[in-house]
Amino acid sequence: MNAPAAARLRESAPAKLNLYLHVVGRRADGYHELDSLAAFVEAGDVLTAVAADDLSLAIDGPFAAGLSAGADNLVMKAAAALRDRRGAALTLTKNLPVASGIGGGSADAAAALRLLRRLWRLDLAEDRLAALGLTLGADVPVCLRSRPTVMRGIGEVLSAAPDLPPAGILLVNPRIPLATPDVFRRREGPFSAPVSFTGGGDVVALVAALAATRNDLETPASALCPAVPRVLAALRASPGCRLARLSGSGATCFGLYDDAAAAERAAAWLTERERGWWVRPTRWFS
Ligand code: C5P
Repeated sequence: MNAPAAARLRESAPAKLNLYLHVVGRRADGYHELDSLAAFVEAGDVLTAVAADDLSLAIDGPFAAGLSAGADNLVMKAAAALRDRRGAALTLTKNLPVASGIGGGSADAAAALRLLRRLWRLDLAEDRLAALGLTLGADVPVCLRSRPTVMRGIGEVLSAAPDLPPAGILLVNPRIPLATPDVFRRREGPFSAPVSFTGGGDVVALVAALAATRNDLETPASALCPAVPRVLAALRASPGCRLARLSGSGATCFGLYDDAAAAERAAAWLTERERGWWVRPTRWFS
């Protein structure tokens, strides 16, 4: 009888949305201090792994092109950060646009940490994994949680946020990559104050609460990428849109709708008008 094939393990790497993002200060090392509500959606990359003698990474999916599978890939960096490493054949299905403000690379790194901890049966507590994640990127600790979270510090001071009401969500990216450091560098003017965000209620209540907040990176991202204000205007004009905002440093923007059907209708409406954009209806990840 043949030996059973080694089990292939799977981890989702859900996209991160910043429902608001206030830049509240800047540290001496250049990193910015944030107050941000991060939420996660079902749209995402997928990472699988099977035990192997060596460590390897293959990338497929609609956004695989142009992404290195070498040591500089965040998945490989995550594997290297787990010092007690063994072999694994990893496959990343890249469904999210690269350099797009929805945490794709950070979510992939977080998925790699979770997946390899399981595959290699590593005795690593959540806080240890988060500390390792932070060495890979400021958004990796929040991506390890993949649930609504208020981010402070440079993104590493995390506190649970209230559950979000059911909503339809639409992600739109103009297929123009934006480098996060460039966007932060262009930010100017006074810093914002942190807010205290309380949940509860339906989409209308969520949008009312978000009305007092903003994404402070919208102005610099729009200056670097004029497609951003066009995407935001199109989302705001789409039927049923309750709120449209930039996520992270962009260029992905999101729209909030009453339900999945409304987001699907808006997706069809937008695709009809702008065939070149990446348009993806989704819902909260849970
Ligand atoms: O940590 P990560 O590699 O994702 O950040 C990319 C860049 O974004 C940093 O080098 C920095 O220029 C900028 N950044 C920042 N403040 C943050 C997060 C990122 O200035 N809180």
